[in-house]
Amino acid sequence: MSISGDFLRSDFNQLGPLIELDAQAFPFPWSAQQWEELNPDHHLLFCWQDRNRANGLALFGRIGRDSVAHLLKICLEPAFQGKGGSTEFWIFVVKQLVDLEVKSIFLEVEELNHRAIGFYRKVGFRTLRLSKNFYSNGSNALIMELTL
Ligand SMILES: CC(C)(COP(=O)(O)OP(=O)(O)OC[C@H]1O[C@@H](n2cnc3c(N)ncnc32)[C@H](O)[C@@H]1OP(=O)(O)O)[C@@H](O)C(=O)NCCC(=O)NCCS
Repeated sequence: MSISGDFLRSDFNQLGPLIELDAQAFPFPWSAQQWEELNPDHHLLFCWQDRNRANGLALFGRIGRDSVAHLLKICLEPAFQGKGGSTEFWIFVVKQLVDLEVKSIFLEVEELNHRAIGFYRKVGFRTLRLSKNFYSNGSNALIMELTL
């Protein structure tokens, strides 16, 4: 599958395609209200957009100009998963974060989400620890970190 479309930083004004993508990629997507409560002062949002569709998104929390960013959500449209686009998108995202003087990223990932863990390891994240009963359904999370 060829990689078409644009990688860009979102200004939070066109959330519709991202809400749709979230619903396609996750069994428990956020509500429209949760999306609308995102605040450009505390969040960074990047997307892979193709015309009016969103093929991918990466959402980070960041307090002020803190050097640490928290990866809250990353996903690709299911047809694009496992096809190499995530790595290109990730390279774009990291470049943007470096330009914004972010020095490290941390994240939590469900310990059975092997594909996501495989992706994070591939792009350089290391596991810091296992957090038991992290999610509301009782499942465990790996806490991972990447130094930029
Ligand atoms: C997470 C996500 C963005 C990664 O993008 P992707 O294009 O699917 O990832 P890639 O295929 O580039 O990388 C996944 C790696 O894990 C490996 N992998 C896949 N399934 C695996 C499994 N069951 N066990 C171990 N490794 C696995 C792949 O082989 C691949 O490594 P490789 O390219 O060296 O072969 C994408 O899968 C996605 O949107 N998932 C749904 C949303 C999600 O779970 N997001 C993360 C939590 S917020």
